[in-house]
Amino acid sequence: MSYKSGRHFLQLPGPTNTPERVLRAMSKPTIDHRGAEFKELTHRLLEGLSAVFKTEHTVIIYPASGSGAWEATLANVLNKGDRVLSFQQGFFAGKWAETATRFGLDVRVESWDPRRGLTVDAAMDALDSDHEIKAVLVVHNETSTGVTSDVEAIGRAMKESEHEALLLVDAVSSLAATDLRHDEWGLDVTLTGSQKGLMLPPGLAMVAVSPRALDASRRADLPVSYWRWSDHVESNANGVFPYTPATHLLYGLEEALAMLAEEGLDRVFRRHARFAEATRAAVGAWGLENFAADASESSNAATAVLVPEGHDADALRQVILDRFDMSLGTGLGPVKGKVFRIGHLGDLNALTLAGTLAGVEMGLRLAGVPHSPAGVSAALDVLCA
Ligand SMILES: Cc1ncc(COP(=O)(O)O)c(C=O)c1O
Repeated sequence: MSYKSGRHFLQLPGPTNTPERVLRAMSKPTIDHRGAEFKELTHRLLEGLSAVFKTEHTVIIYPASGSGAWEATLANVLNKGDRVLSFQQGFFAGKWAETATRFGLDVRVESWDPRRGLTVDAAMDALDSDHEIKAVLVVHNETSTGVTSDVEAIGRAMKESEHEALLLVDAVSSLAATDLRHDEWGLDVTLTGSQKGLMLPPGLAMVAVSPRALDASRRADLPVSYWRWSDHVESNANGVFPYTPATHLLYGLEEALAMLAEEGLDRVFRRHARFAEATRAAVGAWGLENFAADASESSNAATAVLVPEGHDADALRQVILDRFDMSLGTGLGPVKGKVFRIGHLGDLNALTLAGTLAGVEMGLRLAGVPHSPAGVSAALDVLCA
């Protein structure tokens, strides 16, 4: 392979670009994971993560990807044969439901239009119709569709209702990109991965656990060993982990948390919202269609763009990769070939986004996808506003 000058544009909806500061923080010698220095690091990380999850309760870190956090969540809080509720929000909601099925849970999958955010009414109607439901699985930001659901409304409504079901939230692509308040919104488990808004390489999974969920974990009887929360809580209190932790990713996490604190979470969210708005402006000006049916539910982390009938989104992505060295997200599941996804989360600025959209516009031209060449200019208007 010949050398490609300039930097690769990694504009996937995760993994996202790892900032230099994080990479440098990770290039340090390994230390004793039971030593004093490490114990202090553990305490700082748990405190820093609590601020990002907006919780005063338990936070647990695993050397895993987001899928590991799905499994950890189910295995800790549920009992054999428990009924759980899931909606057809998209590819990742489906994978989580499949994980639950593999655990022998009784998964009730409700149909849902993947182009719309899950509503509080839909969640409450399903709960009202079935008092056997022990947990509701909701993906805050369905990365495959670029649609965000109103987890706040669902959390508040469930809290106010008589329902005992736990609310389990996948925040893999929303945490640190979109506001999320684990305690205030009444979420029972919020889970995430390191490779998206947290700007780390893949390899860490994190969960925030409410007191109610922690209590449920003491009574749950699904087989759980490596993921067992009680082991983590006990070890973490002493600054250690119940296994050999991923030391270097933890170094990186400390730096990423410092960066988020320096920028300020509210500013981080505003930046993501502005980049998402600029991207939508580009999509509209190209004359293409956003997969998210309603702009108010369109994700701040990623935009899924439909290509016109008769065109292949993956062929377009390939042209963009070959000619401009930029990776965009593929369509997943039923929208394979029909959408491409522009990731605009994590460590990026206005110029990164402008370059990304310019790459897409040039790709549309080269791949012969009908469009109006006005997208970049429309996005710049938003970025300059
Ligand atoms: C919303 C969502 N949930 C879960 C996952 C699965 O995470 P991982 O691929 O890290 O296992 C992803 C991955 O992109 C995701 O976007």
